[in-house]
Amino acid sequence: MQYIPNVCLATVIIVQYILLYGLYEYIREVDIKCSALETTSHRTRRDVNIAENSVSSKTSGEGEKVEFINPNFRPIVEKETIAKSEQSNGTKEEWYWLNAYSRIPIAALQGFCASTRDYCPPGKEGPIGPQGEPGPKGIPGAKGDEGRKGPIGVEGPKGPTGLPGPVGPKGQKGDTGKTGNSGLDGRDGIPGSPGLDGVPGKNGFDGIPGVNGAPGKDATCFNGTDGKPGETGPIGPPGPIGPKGLTGPKGRPGKPGLDGTPGKPGLSAYNYTVKGIPTSDFLTAPTIIGQSELKNITVKEGDNLRLRCVATGSPKPTIVWQKLDSTTVPMGSWREEAVTGNAINITKVNRLHMGRYKCIADNGIAPSSIQYYSIEIHFPPLISVQNQHVAAAVNRSTSFECEVEAYPYAVHYWEREGEILEDSDKYSITRTDISNYNYKFIMQLNISSVNDFDNGTYYCVSKNDEGTVAGNITLYIVDPTLVTPPPYVDPMNKIKFGKGPPQLIGEEDICQPPVICPTCQKPKETKECKEEFTIDDLLGHQPLDVQQLQKVTIKGHANRSLDCQVYAVGKPVYNRDSNASYGSWMKDPMPRLSNETIWMTTNEIYTLLEFSNKSIFKSKKASKTHTLSYPFHGNSHAMYNGCFYFHEKDKPLIRKYDILHEKYINKTIPYLNATNPKNLLYTTKRNYVDFAVEENGLWIIYGLEDSNNTAVLHLNPSSLDIEYAWNISIKHDRAGDMFIVCGVLYAVHSVTERNTTIRFALDLYKNVRLNDVDLSFTNPFANTTLIQYNSQSKELFTWDQGNLLTYPIRYNDMGSNSTKGEQDSSFNESSGILKT
Ligand SMILES: *[C@@H]1O[C@H](CO)[C@@H](O)[C@H](O)[C@H]1NC(C)=O
Ligand SMILES: *[C@@H]1O[C@H](CO)[C@@H](O)[C@H](O)[C@H]1NC(C)=O
Ligand SMILES: *[C@@H]1O[C@H](CO)[C@@H](O)[C@H](O)[C@H]1NC(C)=O
Ligand SMILES: *[C@@H]1O[C@H](CO)[C@@H](O)[C@H](O)[C@H]1NC(C)=O
Ligand SMILES: *[C@@H]1O[C@H](CO)[C@@H](O)[C@H](O)[C@H]1NC(C)=O
Ligand SMILES: *[C@@H]1O[C@H](CO)[C@@H](O)[C@H](O)[C@H]1NC(C)=O
Ligand SMILES: *[C@@H]1O[C@H](CO)[C@@H](O)[C@H](O)[C@H]1NC(C)=O
Ligand SMILES: *[C@@H]1O[C@H](CO)[C@@H](O)[C@H](O)[C@H]1NC(C)=O
Ligand SMILES: *[C@@H]1O[C@H](CO)[C@@H](O)[C@H](O)[C@H]1NC(C)=O
Ligand SMILES: *[C@@H]1O[C@H](CO)[C@@H](O)[C@H](O)[C@H]1NC(C)=O
Ligand SMILES: *[C@@H]1O[C@H](CO)[C@@H](O)[C@H](O)[C@H]1NC(C)=O
Ligand SMILES: *[C@@H]1O[C@H](CO)[C@@H](O)[C@H](O)[C@H]1NC(C)=O
Repeated sequence: MQYIPNVCLATVIIVQYILLYGLYEYIREVDIKCSALETTSHRTRRDVNIAENSVSSKTSGEGEKVEFINPNFRPIVEKETIAKSEQSNGTKEEWYWLNAYSRIPIAALQGFCASTRDYCPPGKEGPIGPQGEPGPKGIPGAKGDEGRKGPIGVEGPKGPTGLPGPVGPKGQKGDTGKTGNSGLDGRDGIPGSPGLDGVPGKNGFDGIPGVNGAPGKDATCFNGTDGKPGETGPIGPPGPIGPKGLTGPKGRPGKPGLDGTPGKPGLSAYNYTVKGIPTSDFLTAPTIIGQSELKNITVKEGDNLRLRCVATGSPKPTIVWQKLDSTTVPMGSWREEAVTGNAINITKVNRLHMGRYKCIADNGIAPSSIQYYSIEIHFPPLISVQNQHVAAAVNRSTSFECEVEAYPYAVHYWEREGEILEDSDKYSITRTDISNYNYKFIMQLNISSVNDFDNGTYYCVSKNDEGTVAGNITLYIVDPTLVTPPPYVDPMNKIKFGKGPPQLIGEEDICQPPVICPTCQKPKETKECKEEFTIDDLLGHQPLDVQQLQKVTIKGHANRSLDCQVYAVGKPVYNRDSNASYGSWMKDPMPRLSNETIWMTTNEIYTLLEFSNKSIFKSKKASKTHTLSYPFHGNSHAMYNGCFYFHEKDKPLIRKYDILHEKYINKTIPYLNATNPKNLLYTTKRNYVDFAVEENGLWIIYGLEDSNNTAVLHLNPSSLDIEYAWNISIKHDRAGDMFIVCGVLYAVHSVTERNTTIRFALDLYKNVRLNDVDLSFTNPFANTTLIQYNSQSKELFTWDQGNLLTYPIRYNDMGSNSTKGEQDSSFNESSGILKT
């Protein structure tokens, strides 16, 4: 152990030694500043074997050198140094005096030291370095002693009401009550009506045959009187021809006969040259083989027809076909002005092919040859009715119209309750042929003055060789003071009775079937195409049909109080969220008390929550909880004039709950089966009944039982009486949602696509589909389960994946007393999120 200090000492000495040699290596040049004494100093350089890792022997610039100076000149040299460093832009050169006569630039020394720090002994303690990063966390200390007990806290809020306890054990049976006094005898009932006659009894058995009578006696006294003379017999056969008479005088000459048919043209021979060589072939004008004045051809519609025209002539004639009535020749899906070729082939002849044709054979040699054809197509009547439901008021006149296509000529008549109507003072029957068509006409029936008993179905009947077809029109008698919408008329889809014409097919069509949009491999995302698809889907690929719901008593609705058409739906505004993924929230558009109140339901089906204003609503603490006596179904309820309207769970009825008076009114809804999930509305399938409240009152939308159609009822909000009832051929499970604004029913295409559209809109007062509707609508959370319109704030209230949103809507006011365009500001908001 005593060696250790010796070893240390040895190490220090070796290090110092190496250090010294390193220093020498740095010295390249020695400037001896010796101006007066001219003393010389020798720089000695010794080659020393130094380990490679010891000291760098590279000189790294000027200034890194030891200077030896006469101690007497030291102040002068120092002055010079300061002056020099001032010259050089302020970069100071600092020197370290090794002893009284030698100095070295501090930079050089520092560089040396830095590169040799492994061997340098530790210097003086430097300034305290910057604080290092905290070390890893230590092991936790031992647990402290338990603190003193705190003061008793404030009593917490009352917890929610617990679930009801289990049913208690059955009580003991009570004593049997005393038998009550027997009641008084009732009065005699009214005698019943006499019974029907009894069934006649069976025939009795045959009696025993009687004994034969005694034979009569011969007459003895008188012979019979003579009979009447017989009738004259038939004329006998003519007698034999008499002998020939004398020849009469000669008659006058008869009138000259008619001209005979012109003879066929004779041969014409022409001399001509072909490429300079005279040729004398005969050239003949064309002749159609078997030509006659006119060929009548009669075919049934749907048959195939080939017209041929074969002609001779030199050179070979060309044959051209034309339709004579200056219309075009339908060839498949094409209409051709002229067709060339020996034959025209028509697959499935159509009524459009009817008419006169000519084929012209021409080869440039006059005269050309022409053959005329008359083509008749026979087909049974086809009746088109534009307006199948006609409403008329008593003492007014009305008229029905049916358009008929038929060939050959069809007779027509009007029938009602099995009786053919006669042209009379009351009925006027007219028939108008449509010009340019020999097979189309319009039959019209005018009723001059309608009375209470004229309601019912009228038939327009048309009959020809090929069949009999009847179309029907229903007349309703209406109260002139109440409004009922006119029937829905789709001008493109008249109601047709009878068999229509076949499709026009050409050979090109058979070979290459026309490309139809739905079967394209990649349907282009054009707007038209898309529209066809979505609306088509909504209507189940059928034309739209809007009718009054059958067998439902209606009162007729009052005039529309506000007519408008929505032209934009704004961006969604966030209001608050809810843990429930579906529920409803609404404001009363016609409140009895405060117009600030917000109402909400969740999946607790007996509970209606009331929030006094928006900030309370946002704080999620209900101001009041109303417990209902009946459970509701779904989330599409309504709040109107202080009453809560809802569909009772599993029942085909809706209820109105007057919150102030705590009273209920109910109404059974026709054709509603609220236990069959097929009738659940929309793609969301949350509701059987969707309530809508707007400027014109209360409406409900629901799926018709045993049908895919949608029913809409307009109800009186106070009595729940039905004012009008529609049966609309919208598939109730196809739309994403529907809502009503100003008596117009809008269908949102999807509630799960983020970007979607509203393209279907039906005006329920006019029964007209609004054609130019194309509104975009967004489902920011892709799960909207509620869309309700609020007419007071002109907003849609929605519930999208637990987010309660409002969408401002803008509409064209088309006649009302309210103002418009109040929502403009919210449309310009770019963020769309309300920061309140
Ligand atoms: C002084 O500084 C300027 C710019 O900073 C430089 O261009 C010039 O060369 C410097 N002079 C000396 C003597 O270093
Ligand atoms: C009846 O007729 C028969 C024969 O014709 C005749 O002999 C007879 O005398 C007639 N009797 C009377 C009563 O006329
Ligand atoms: C046609 O040419 C022939 C001989 O080249 C001549 O005999 C004949 O008359 C000519 N016919 C006509 C109509 O020019
Ligand atoms: C063809 O029909 C027309 C009437 O369409 C008739 O006048 C004509 O006589 C008929 N011709 C023939 C050859 O049957
Ligand atoms: C009509 O059909 C015949 C027989 O198939 C065919 O030869 C002819 O070319 C067809 N004509 C036209 C104009 O297509
Ligand atoms: C006409 O209306 C009356 C009363 O609305 C109704 O009883 C009758 O059945 C109707 N008649 C027909 C033919 O529909
Ligand atoms: C009237 O026509 C419609 C077709 O549009 C048909 O469904 C209905 O049964 C017809 N009504 C009567 C009474 O014939
Ligand atoms: C609520 O009613 C008050 C006065 O009746 C009115 O000033 C206010 O604008 C209404 N608020 C809304 C949101 O309609
Ligand atoms: C509906 O209301 C009537 C009275 O308005 C009541 O007699 C009937 O019991 C109610 N029906 C239901 C199912 O509550
Ligand atoms: C409702 O639909 C269900 C299921 O189809 C059926 O069982 C039930 O009888 C229907 N209810 C009524 C009232 O028709
Ligand atoms: C309802 O639509 C479905 C398919 O979408 C169809 O199978 C069914 O027959 C339709 N029901 C009625 C009553 O039209
Ligand atoms: C939805 O519409 C917005 C603008 O209207 C557009 O920026 C966005 O890309 C659309 N999203 C989809 C999925 O089409």
